[in-house]
Amino acid sequence: MPLELQAVDPKADFPAVARCLFESYEAPPQPFFHIFFPIHNTTTNNPQNAREAAIAEAAARLKLWQEHDKSMYWQKVVDTETGRIAGGALWNIHEANPFANPAQLEVSWFPEGGARRFVEKALENHVRPRARAAPKPHLYLFIIFTHPDYRRQGVGQQFMDWGMKKADAMGFDFFLDSTPYGQPLYEANGFRYIEENLNVPVTDKPDEKWKEMEDKVGPFTFWLMWRPVNGVYEGRETPKST
Ligand SMILES: CC(C)(COP(=O)(O)OP(=O)(O)OC[C@H]1O[C@@H](n2cnc3c(N)ncnc32)[C@H](O)[C@@H]1OP(=O)(O)O)[C@@H](O)C(=O)NCCC(=O)NCCS
Repeated sequence: MPLELQAVDPKADFPAVARCLFESYEAPPQPFFHIFFPIHNTTTNNPQNAREAAIAEAAARLKLWQEHDKSMYWQKVVDTETGRIAGGALWNIHEANPFANPAQLEVSWFPEGGARRFVEKALENHVRPRARAAPKPHLYLFIIFTHPDYRRQGVGQQFMDWGMKKADAMGFDFFLDSTPYGQPLYEANGFRYIEENLNVPVTDKPDEKWKEMEDKVGPFTFWLMWRPVNGVYEGRETPKST
């Protein structure tokens, strides 16, 4: 089946992109996903309605993020026989050091209180290794997913090919934070490890909502990975993250 890389149309595509995102991270389930894209009110609401509301909220937020952060660029791979979205990727094309004046991302997708504080702490932990390793212009792969129906058909590779070409054209190193599921794709593309990042949000005052998040998400691990411009490692030291 023809699978074509295209730019996301922000006016039309985010509902379908968000649905594909959820279905991709549900198979298999990855608890950290709840940090970025929670399903609220699962006890009071019908579970299907709660999930639909979460997908709609995600679609609206992805659109807002892109409108407010000019470094963001969304792509999709489309099955051109059916029009179905097979996968998506969100890039940050950082033309300047993004950590010089870090924009505070307001965790608007959780109500104020312990749950929101947990997520703020998790996001701080998540970004810390890259803030140390990449205080400069660079390309960052923020989100990548392939729908389970389309895995191992080169969808992820199409995004990676685009990213490597883009980074080289801009003279940038390419960074990403990998889940366990992403590692084979990045290793196949010659990416090297900078740091294993075991994320354990900590507070002195855990309230009920904080504890609920701990139970739901638990500690989770990402691996910061790197590919130098043009994929040339000779003469380059692995960036330091500590
Ligand atoms: C990671 C993910 C995006 C890979 O997407 P994909 O479209 O299936 O990957 P591709 O078909 O383009 O794979 C390209 C190459 O990567 C490697 N690879 C990808 N997935 C692999 C797997 N599960 N096992 C072993 N190698 C794998 C292979 O070398 C593969 O080439 P091959 O199929 O010719 O052997 C997909 O598994 C996914 O969405 N996972 C859930 C969400 C997630 O964790 N995303 C990663 C965030 S960092």
